[in-house]
Amino acid sequence: MPERYLITAALPYVNNVPHIGNIVGSHLPADIFARYCRLKGRETLFIGGTDEHGSPSEIAAQKAGISPKELCDTFFAIHKEIYEWFDISYDNFSRTSKPIHHELTKSFFLELQKNGFISEQKMHMPYCLKDKRFLADRFVEGKCPHCAYDGARGDQCEQCGSMLIPSELIKPICVLCKSTPEIRETTHLFLNLDQLQPKLGDWIEKNTHWKPQVRNLAIGWLKEGLKKRAITRDLKWGVKVPIAGYENKVLYVWFDAPIGYISSTKEWVQNNSHLEKKDYELKKWWVDKNTKLFHFVGKDNIPFHTIFFPAMLIGEGKYNLPFQIGGYQFMNYEGGKLSKSKGHGVFCETFIEGDKDALPAEVWRFYLALKLPEVRDTEFTWAEFESRVNTELMGNLSNFINRVTSFINDKKNGEVRKPKKMNAEDTELLLQIKDYVDKVDKLYDNLEIVSAIQTILELSAKGNQYFQNNAPWKQFERQDAVLYVCASICKALGVMLTPVIPKASGKIRNILNLPKEYTFADAIKPLPENHKIGMHEILFYKLEAAKIQELKEKTTKLGKVEERIGKHKAHSDH
Ligand code: MF3
Ligand code: ZN
Repeated sequence: MPERYLITAALPYVNNVPHIGNIVGSHLPADIFARYCRLKGRETLFIGGTDEHGSPSEIAAQKAGISPKELCDTFFAIHKEIYEWFDISYDNFSRTSKPIHHELTKSFFLELQKNGFISEQKMHMPYCLKDKRFLADRFVEGKCPHCAYDGARGDQCEQCGSMLIPSELIKPICVLCKSTPEIRETTHLFLNLDQLQPKLGDWIEKNTHWKPQVRNLAIGWLKEGLKKRAITRDLKWGVKVPIAGYENKVLYVWFDAPIGYISSTKEWVQNNSHLEKKDYELKKWWVDKNTKLFHFVGKDNIPFHTIFFPAMLIGEGKYNLPFQIGGYQFMNYEGGKLSKSKGHGVFCETFIEGDKDALPAEVWRFYLALKLPEVRDTEFTWAEFESRVNTELMGNLSNFINRVTSFINDKKNGEVRKPKKMNAEDTELLLQIKDYVDKVDKLYDNLEIVSAIQTILELSAKGNQYFQNNAPWKQFERQDAVLYVCASICKALGVMLTPVIPKASGKIRNILNLPKEYTFADAIKPLPENHKIGMHEILFYKLEAAKIQELKEKTTKLGKVEERIGKHKAHSDH
């Protein structure tokens, strides 16, 4: 039975435009892994969408003076465009505001209730007298009771990652009007996490293949003991609670959002009308034990993907639990936190403005993939961006492939001849390609993407040095052997880089004149006898300092989105 891979990237909130930190925290590593799985010939489905409900959208809409629906429509379009620009290969990119999602969420809830995991409780919630509303989740901020961070939100502390409830905040304030709320009693529905803890705990214990930074967090929360958690909110924008008495409340955004992974899959199944057995198809991805579910999320999302959502899944009872959770730390920017509100960072809305001189997405993908915060926080700096693109992507990789292939075209009439004689160095290097490919294979599979790329670059550097040392432009008798080994390296590099820079890899494949359909295993297949390559072309150009300066000015600016909302508003006013 072949293994099947279901891959998800955290569904972004659409109250804002993504910055590069959001790209490296989920979409890019998920995409690289999905592309790797496809290259391995695995049956793969890559699912995403936008997380549209809850306090983040309501607050942003209120601040912009438009309805949550208008806000989400505007931002959904921008998000989608940005991920397409980055070549994020989602098989389906849905929205949690769609009816298919609302329906599935309601039935999921009812199933949990039927199974006895939902209870009703009175709770004390901050209520703002000025705004005349309960302050759910992000509508209230205060000091974190765990780490004393000042800007903790009602549902979570950004600093230490703890999940919170509004009444735990020290010195709470209303985010709309900054006044101190009073505490009022209100009734909500709860998910009985305490009751689900034993099964959840057993499952987490068994997941010894999780990364320590993910596993240790989960075990830490278990040790504290899980409490029942409210899953309804006094908000208007969200999935309606499907039981009487809750007409003015909605389901908690973190209850509905992860169900979005399932509803987006369901939508994909429905849109692919050639799939006749639709029920069977959905089960194949979400119920069949041969399917491995991979979540890619930023570190603040880890508790929801290791505790909260798995507990929901266990309580519901039908679906698979995640196999792996790729949890990413943060990417900082030039010595500080990336921050949209402070205007500190690289903001992606400028990427999609269609300027013909824009830097190709692949250059960004390459550098950002090298800086994925897999183990600890990383930092984006323009100086490093420039130097790594110029030395590694251009100087090392692109240069090697261009040197080898232009030499073959100019001096050998495009032909890679099978060498009659090879010396020890040639044979050794030819054998080493396999070691590199095996190593990279394991690294990708283990979500060690940064090391995978570094290993690929090492092979390229080795190739460069070998080409230089063996100087085929002088040592004519060595030409066939050296060019054969170098062309074999080029092929391996092109295949292995497919998940990271798919377009450039496609170019390498064309330059080498290899068949369109290839798999990871092709990296080490010998070249055909006396193979004729295609026309060489330069893959990447040097980044000039002036270009960096121009890019920096453009991509660190804010404000376009406010204009877009303005336009949208003007439009709907007519
Ligand atoms: N919207 C959340 C965020 O941007 C992530 C939701 S992930 C999902 O932090 F599991 F709920 F989908
Ligand atoms: Zn208020």
